[in-house]
Amino acid sequence: MSTTTLIVGSGFVGRAVAARLAAQGGTPVLASRTPPAEDTAPWVRLDATDADACAQVVESVRPDRLVLVHGPSDVTWCEADPERAIALHSAAARHLTAAARGRRTVLISTDNVFDGSGPDNDEATSTAPANAYGRAKLAAERIVGAAPDATVLRVSLVYGWEPADCAKWLNFFAACAHRLRAGEQVEAPHDQWTTPVLVEDVAAVTAAVLEPGAPGLLHLGGPDRVSRAEWAAAIADGLGVPRTRVAPVPRAAGRYASRPAHTCLTSTLLDEVLRRHGLRVRGVAEGVRALLEAAP
Ligand SMILES: NC(=O)c1ccc[n+]([C@@H]2O[C@H](COP(=O)([O-])OP(=O)(O)OC[C@H]3O[C@@H](n4cnc5c(N)ncnc54)[C@H](OP(=O)(O)O)[C@@H]3O)[C@@H](O)[C@H]2O)c1
Repeated sequence: MSTTTLIVGSGFVGRAVAARLAAQGGTPVLASRTPPAEDTAPWVRLDATDADACAQVVESVRPDRLVLVHGPSDVTWCEADPERAIALHSAAARHLTAAARGRRTVLISTDNVFDGSGPDNDEATSTAPANAYGRAKLAAERIVGAAPDATVLRVSLVYGWEPADCAKWLNFFAACAHRLRAGEQVEAPHDQWTTPVLVEDVAAVTAAVLEPGAPGLLHLGGPDRVSRAEWAAAIADGLGVPRTRVAPVPRAAGRYASRPAHTCLTSTLLDEVLRRHGLRVRGVAEGVRALLEAAP
């Protein structure tokens, strides 16, 4: 019989997880306050900060397992209202783990739980969030991590394809590629480092850790450690446009000011998970090539 997975959050990452699970023969059900932009999977309305609504949705969907991949995910929004960010993420984690009643649960968390002072953050590195988003996600991690059958999957910066006519691009790759393609100059910090990971690879690893036997805490970063400016240059190379269209700027000068200098993840456990499930996480050049080749 097909396994039903309730995916709370039907945004950029949640929809990719739904697509992966459906392709594997599972039954994903997306949940959020407003319907998703694309018709990826069945959807139910849910405000995860409402305890009764969480209980009712779990009761009606009867999932075998849950993925928590909801917002608020906007770092700048969280910084502007830190108390609300922590309250929302904590409430959702509490209500959903209570409603799950011991069902397997995976929380998608973030590299922002580290202070960003060092390039190598593996599962043993001490957490010390430097921003409100990181503090809110860490609070949720602690609640979900204490549940009986849970995995916290910390993911580095996710990227993937989004159409040119989106109201707002949700990831750096898409924003950069469409602006470069339109002949625009792109500013990107030369001093903000990350280990970008393709959204399809995030979805594949999420599906893998939903299976029994996964570690309770796992880090997922891509194999390449790049600055945003280097990454933008790789996208320019992929598009065949001059690298001079990328203007390297200091992190402090722009919209990345509230992000740590290093948002990189390494892992002592990921290779074993990938080996067991026959998976591979792609680097930046391969990921950019795959996205541009598949682009409409
Ligand atoms: N994207 C990345 O690079 C990245 C990296 C690491 C970790 N993550 C984590 O992955 C999660 C999702 O990221 P994303 O990029 O997919 O974000 P996104 O595209 O902004 O999607 C967030 C989703 O959560 C829903 N949501 C927000 N508040 C909710 C609530 N109270 N109840 C139910 N649903 C709610 C939103 O829909 P409504 O507003 O309509 O409810 C939306 O469907 C976040 O928790 C983030 O921390 C993302």
